Amino acid sequence: MGFRKDFLWGGATAANQCEGGYNEDGRGLANVDVVPIGEDRFPVITGQKKMFDFDDEHFYPAKEAIDMYHHWKEDIALFAEMGFKTYRLSLAWSRIFPNGDEKEPNEAGLKFYEDIFEECKKYGIEPLVTITHFDCPMHLVEKYGAWRSRELVGFYENLCRVIFNRYKGLVKYWLTFNEINMILHAPFMGAGLYFEEGDNVEQVKYQAAHHELVASAIATKIAHEVDPENQVGCMLAAGSYYPYTPKPEDVWAGRQDERENYFFIDVQSRGEYPAYALKEMERKGIEVVMEEGDKELLKAHTVDFISFSYYSSRVATTDPELLEQTAGNIFASVKNPYLESSEWGWQIDPLGLRITMNDLYDRYQKPLFIVENGLGAVDTPDEKGYVADDYRIDYLAQHVQAMRDAVDLDGVDLLGYTTWGCIDLVSAGTGEMKKRYGFIYVDRDNDGNGSLKRSKKKSFDWYKKVIATNGEDLSI
Ligand code: BG6
Repeated sequence: MGFRKDFLWGGATAANQCEGGYNEDGRGLANVDVVPIGEDRFPVITGQKKMFDFDDEHFYPAKEAIDMYHHWKEDIALFAEMGFKTYRLSLAWSRIFPNGDEKEPNEAGLKFYEDIFEECKKYGIEPLVTITHFDCPMHLVEKYGAWRSRELVGFYENLCRVIFNRYKGLVKYWLTFNEINMILHAPFMGAGLYFEEGDNVEQVKYQAAHHELVASAIATKIAHEVDPENQVGCMLAAGSYYPYTPKPEDVWAGRQDERENYFFIDVQSRGEYPAYALKEMERKGIEVVMEEGDKELLKAHTVDFISFSYYSSRVATTDPELLEQTAGNIFASVKNPYLESSEWGWQIDPLGLRITMNDLYDRYQKPLFIVENGLGAVDTPDEKGYVADDYRIDYLAQHVQAMRDAVDLDGVDLLGYTTWGCIDLVSAGTGEMKKRYGFIYVDRDNDGNGSLKRSKKKSFDWYKKVIATNGEDLSI
């Protein structure tokens, strides 16, 4: 028993959090570049504060990030040394289409990723490519209002056609939008949306979400046409909700919170707007404008597998003001008194991963892929850059055990597991470097100081052994 023989062990990164090289080789500016660290970050990522370019008062960590743009060979060699079977990375849209609406792509951008995929191939590493991990060219934000415009569907389609053809035979696994539900919680960072006085925010978000859903269906269609070997997944910021008490109202609140997340995946996996969503939109006065043929597209081109990030379970209640809140993946939740928390307040719940996997597998009956999981922590390296990160090993071991239980004991079909930030990178939520997830330490701090030198942490050898034993040996 245990994990399938071809189980895809690996790690995950996102272009804007690791590449840097924000203006190199013709790359255009993107929404994710102009998100600063500090107190303005949250207003900017939520679209409340307009930030369309750099200014002198802020520090923008994505500009250089960990400079993977110039270190990728060295980094992939380290992934290979750990025995990675897969490497999840995302494409910077504005590297390939600097403005987003050009007809012809930027060859230097295409070549950059092609070299990466060739390098992966050399080591037998299967790339898992997120087409957009939050990024949107700034030109599309300024000229079209980003995903609020239907025209984005066509620009995204153009991007997909180019990359599916160019990388045919090099890439087989694709994710259309990272954490598609993030559009509701971090609309500027997640989809380039910002709001003006008088905007009906919910209306804008759901209309933009519809455009992304249609774009995702079109991408799936083209991916299958270009190469029937292609496997396309949706991607959800997951984490099941527990009712705070057995009070029926709390249970119902949990269902409703859950639906807000499932909505996107219901459309991408089942191919239609669920009845509960249509009713909810009707009640809120949200009218999603659909074009002729949209419903058919959604129905005909559903995803092949369900991928998701999991950091924590969540808690639902009808009395939020009475209860302590805790931080989580972008949005806060009610604190679960039975769980420990990370240094950033994210609650640690390995069994919650098994519960989440079962919920998703029961609901969709399609293979699952865990494409993000991990512990963001402060690491203290010695003079050689070595970090004894037993706390990270402990977190990951518990989660791998829980996913093994879901596979072995519950029969969930799991394709693979990529830990988040396998090499230290910039935090999406806070912009910090100090919040580290990696097996590989990168010498860089929150203010951009450091040599960028890479060094192995204790967890590096641990994960290598986990992969070598296909998840059998989780001991330290
Ligand atoms: C997910 C994102 O939300 O969580 C990643 O897909 C992000 O981009 C990760 O980095 C961890 O969140 P944070 O805020 O700790 O970086």
